[in-house]
Amino acid sequence: MAKTATLTIDGKAYEFPIIKGTDGNDAIDITGLRKKTGMITLDYGFGNTGSCASSISFMDGERGILRYRGIPIEQLAEQSSFIETSFLLITGELPTREELIGFSMMLNDHSLVHEDMRHFFERYPKGAHPMGILASMVNALRAFYPELPQRSEHEEIRITFARLLSKLRTLAAMSFRISGGLPVVYPSVHLSYCANFLNMMFDSTVRPYVIDEDVVQALNVFWILHADHEQNCSASAVRLVGSARVNLYAAISAGISALWGPLHGGANQAVVEMLQAMYDSGGDPAPFIARAKDKKDPFRLMGFGHSIYKNYDPRGKIMKKMCDRVLTKLERHDPLLDIAMKLEEVALKDSYFIDNRLYPNVDFYSGIILRALGIPLDMFTVMFAIGRLPGWISQWKESTEDPRGKLHRPRQLYCGPPERDYVPVEKRNRTTKVI
Ligand code: CMC
Repeated sequence: MAKTATLTIDGKAYEFPIIKGTDGNDAIDITGLRKKTGMITLDYGFGNTGSCASSISFMDGERGILRYRGIPIEQLAEQSSFIETSFLLITGELPTREELIGFSMMLNDHSLVHEDMRHFFERYPKGAHPMGILASMVNALRAFYPELPQRSEHEEIRITFARLLSKLRTLAAMSFRISGGLPVVYPSVHLSYCANFLNMMFDSTVRPYVIDEDVVQALNVFWILHADHEQNCSASAVRLVGSARVNLYAAISAGISALWGPLHGGANQAVVEMLQAMYDSGGDPAPFIARAKDKKDPFRLMGFGHSIYKNYDPRGKIMKKMCDRVLTKLERHDPLLDIAMKLEEVALKDSYFIDNRLYPNVDFYSGIILRALGIPLDMFTVMFAIGRLPGWISQWKESTEDPRGKLHRPRQLYCGPPERDYVPVEKRNRTTKVI
């Protein structure tokens, strides 16, 4: 017999079905709650609320597990490529050799962006953050390319996804080149997805960029680690905006905007800024740790803690290993890595971090890798966005295909003034300022 949960309100019992997942938490289906009881649930930050049923990624925050379509992140980071992982996330299966070749060709075929889009870049004020530029450029793609209609043909869907995956990477590299006053480098059919990006970023007629396979591999791993993370803030933004049946580009643009925040994807930039500030003040992390522990100070230790992981972030572990590997390969010594390792050591012995179960997350070491690859600081979150794109596409696809999908419209507990009368301006005698 299926299990149920009983909720008792004022002595009256209400039954709700318990839905079992493949792994992890089961869920109490409260779809009928308001209708049956006249009440709603209140869950700040949605920490206890499942907004959907999903088969894309699985996380277990207690055990530090992350899997894409069932496959452990460690195996994908070791054996897969970013493109193959993107295919897996979007379609649900690893591609056959033919499918992988076909998908790579499709990405190459759609890698150029409309030349008119260059004018957009030229009009942005100097110093505009690339994440803001990227969000609006992706939204603008809809003006240049057709919308994906409901019930599209399979081929149309594949082309639209390939177009987005390929063009986001081109747009990101273009924004870097144009903002630095450098000529745009176009994508090449002869290069892989990651090699193409590095070449578009760093090639020059004066000093041709030499592609290093270890650097390409590091970028593959970096993007695989970021490719999806179940119902995080930006994925939820994509689903919520997408639920209004807006076009895919607009939904992805909403995801990019959400990712920009320093508590989410913007943390990779914030970590390096924090490590730099530690370095500039003599390299001692202690005053920063003290600030992070002070509840009156809004400062948080960037790259530490996670809403779900109450153990090591499995992505953080892989990232740390990659960091050592890349710096050794490039024969680079980064003093920020020394500070990061010292900070990690001190924080992990501190009772505040132990008691609150705060461990380094994916962003803690990722910035040091990006610095080593030559990626400028304000492009760090853009790098996260390129990696997260297959996840956003998969979440959007799953939510739009779900027959139970609805326009997302949460409720609220109203705590404002009770009904009161409008007061004409000449009769308002309030002396305190409200803004
Ligand atoms: N520094 C200091 N205190 C912290 C930190 C931190 N980095 N993270 C959490 N805390 C405190 C938090 O204030 C809470 O204290 P209290 O119970 O007194 O209010 C306690 O530790 C437990 O926090 P939590 O419930 O485990 O975490 P949360 O869900 O409130 O916040 C977070 C999660 C990621 C927003 C937070 O850990 C944070 O701000 N970290 C720094 C920013 C960061 O690195 N973000 C990247 C996240 S990974 C990338 C991604 O997936 O987006």
